[in-house]
Amino acid sequence: MRTAHIEVSGLTMAYGEYVVMRSLNFAVRRGEIFIIMGGSGSGKSTLLRHLIGLQAPAAGTVYFDGHDFWRASDAERGRLLRRMGILYQSGALWSSMTLAENIALPLSAHTQLTPKEIAELTSLKLALVGLAGFENYYPSEISGGMQKRAALARAMALDPEILLFDEPSAGLDPVSARRLDELILHLRDSLGSTVVIITHDLASILSIGTDSIFLDTETKSIIARGPPRELLKTSDQPRVQDFLTRGQVLASTSSSRSSARRRL
Ligand SMILES: Nc1ncnc2c1ncn2[C@@H]1O[C@H](COP(=O)(O)OP(=O)(O)OP(=O)(O)O)[C@@H](O)[C@H]1O
Ligand SMILES: [Mg+2]
Repeated sequence: MRTAHIEVSGLTMAYGEYVVMRSLNFAVRRGEIFIIMGGSGSGKSTLLRHLIGLQAPAAGTVYFDGHDFWRASDAERGRLLRRMGILYQSGALWSSMTLAENIALPLSAHTQLTPKEIAELTSLKLALVGLAGFENYYPSEISGGMQKRAALARAMALDPEILLFDEPSAGLDPVSARRLDELILHLRDSLGSTVVIITHDLASILSIGTDSIFLDTETKSIIARGPPRELLKTSDQPRVQDFLTRGQVLASTSSSRSSARRRL
């Protein structure tokens, strides 16, 4: 059996005395688009911070490819972190730098590539997210959806095996949000990355999510796991059903998906 790409084992997350979630156990398989769901304040961003080394567990640990992230040396942890690309919710790009300079930053910091090679790679990454020719634009000169795609290009600069996103579609109009979904699917398929997404966006959850967990504030635990579409059909947890059935979910999902496809 292959090792899970990410395994969270007995993870308790706390701020001082205040416990956010207790003894979380779950695994993310390679190539999944794994959705972390849960109400506001349930600990989704906190969980992400534990996955990327910004916050240490109160108990338990996280394994990447079987390597114990929190018991690793600093050097080993640094090597594991370089295999991840992170798209933060806000302030994703440096506003004083062009798109090319933004994407070149991780490449010049972490590789021995020459400036010419970096410029070529930067253009390639921008082309991958549909922004060929926008090298010399500043973030303020492009739309919100284009900024998200540029930030995605930067997250992918070092060819990460794992992409992590905190609310990628927040602040985007529905069409741009659907285009971002299509792009995430495309990147997963072409690069073979594993994708972990925190999102409230039901259209995204139901259309691209292949697996998920639901963090429940009341019990401080995971109360549902599995493909979101399956959970919608089978979960008998009222709070999970509430989360997955807000508004006219299914109707708007299918119509916005087809309109997004028409515009691609
Ligand atoms: N720096 C902090 N210090 C103390 N408590 C914090 C801190 N950051 C978050 N918390 C608390 O931890 C809990 C989880 O917060 P977190 O930001 O992870 O939630 P979330 O699921 O990401 O919420 P949202 O959907 O609103 O982004 C909340 O009760 C929050 O008040
Ligand atoms: Mg959050």
